[in-house]
Amino acid sequence: MTGRFSVTVCTSADEERMLAVQEIVRGLTAEPKTLSPKFLYHEEGSGLFDEITHLEEYYPTRIERSLLDGFGAGIVHDVQPHEIVELGPGNSAKSGTLLGPALQTGTLKRYIPFDISESAVREGARALFDMYPDLGEIAAVVGDFERHLPAIPDPQGTRLIAFLGSTIGNLHPAERSRFLEEVRALMPRTEDALLVGADLVKDTRIIEAAYNDARGITALFNLNSLKAVNDLLGTEIDISLFRHYAFFNAEHSRIEMHLQAEADVAFTLPATGDVVRVQAGETIWTESSYKFTRDSFAGALHDAGFGNVRWFTDPDEMFALVLARP
Ligand code: SAH
Ligand code: AVI
Repeated sequence: MTGRFSVTVCTSADEERMLAVQEIVRGLTAEPKTLSPKFLYHEEGSGLFDEITHLEEYYPTRIERSLLDGFGAGIVHDVQPHEIVELGPGNSAKSGTLLGPALQTGTLKRYIPFDISESAVREGARALFDMYPDLGEIAAVVGDFERHLPAIPDPQGTRLIAFLGSTIGNLHPAERSRFLEEVRALMPRTEDALLVGADLVKDTRIIEAAYNDARGITALFNLNSLKAVNDLLGTEIDISLFRHYAFFNAEHSRIEMHLQAEADVAFTLPATGDVVRVQAGETIWTESSYKFTRDSFAGALHDAGFGNVRWFTDPDEMFALVLARP
């Protein structure tokens, strides 16, 4: 049997570019200077993230994958989903751990991957389409979590929403609450379920090593967001004047990733004519990656209207898969 395959792109490239320019200008003229983490995935960024997931120091992917291998089949057996919506799957490298067992239960009809990176989602969804000829439909959506979740097609039966990789940790608390409430609204049935990966608080040295790998791939990933600025805004930022800087901020329980200027840097924003000045030592904050405790994560789920919560963790409680129902 061959199913249906579609890719819906939520906005035009021109609109995306206009909004990206506005967002970048706002961030670079703010205090402190910021860039949204979504620009990390610009062009070769998705491939660099994929390289990060294979690094020795980057434990989250390895541990989450072993949790999916160990518990994924039991989870889908319990939920019996008719469809799996996956938020931020990237190239869908982990998705087979849920799709394979869900097809074996005989209930699964549709897979809906939703990601901002069109190339990653197209490549990943196409590979799954070829791998699982019994899957009735793949309906991929290219969009931004912040604006396009309502573009996800209406449910057709029990829905499992997967949000893996601890990408939830890249949202600040207010964004996280809003996001979880919107996700909750995509789950109308009491039997629907959310499966979310959450990176847990642990020895700071282990966390910091994961964001400061010896091969410098995370540094390239971080610096790539300045390439996104140059491409999207037409700026001529000299990327070699910046260095990758990542540390654990214990007060906020988050890794902060920054780009620190090694000399005074000035560049003109063609969109407005503003000159942005970054002083030597000053940083542009490119990403936060929150690390959770059981209590902090359960609290966030509870506040967004999730009740029934089950935890699946490794023996050292490094990472958790959390299954939550409305
Ligand atoms: N789930 C995969 C990939 C995680 S990387 C894993 O566990 O390995 C984070 C993913 O979220 C990337 O694929 C990136 O393109 C996507 N993403 C980041 N910001 C986004 C946004 N604002 N809207 C939609 N997708 C986003
Ligand atoms: C996708 N996200 C959960 C990753 C993280 O760990 O916060 C992105 C990343 N940033 C640096 N390394 C990986």
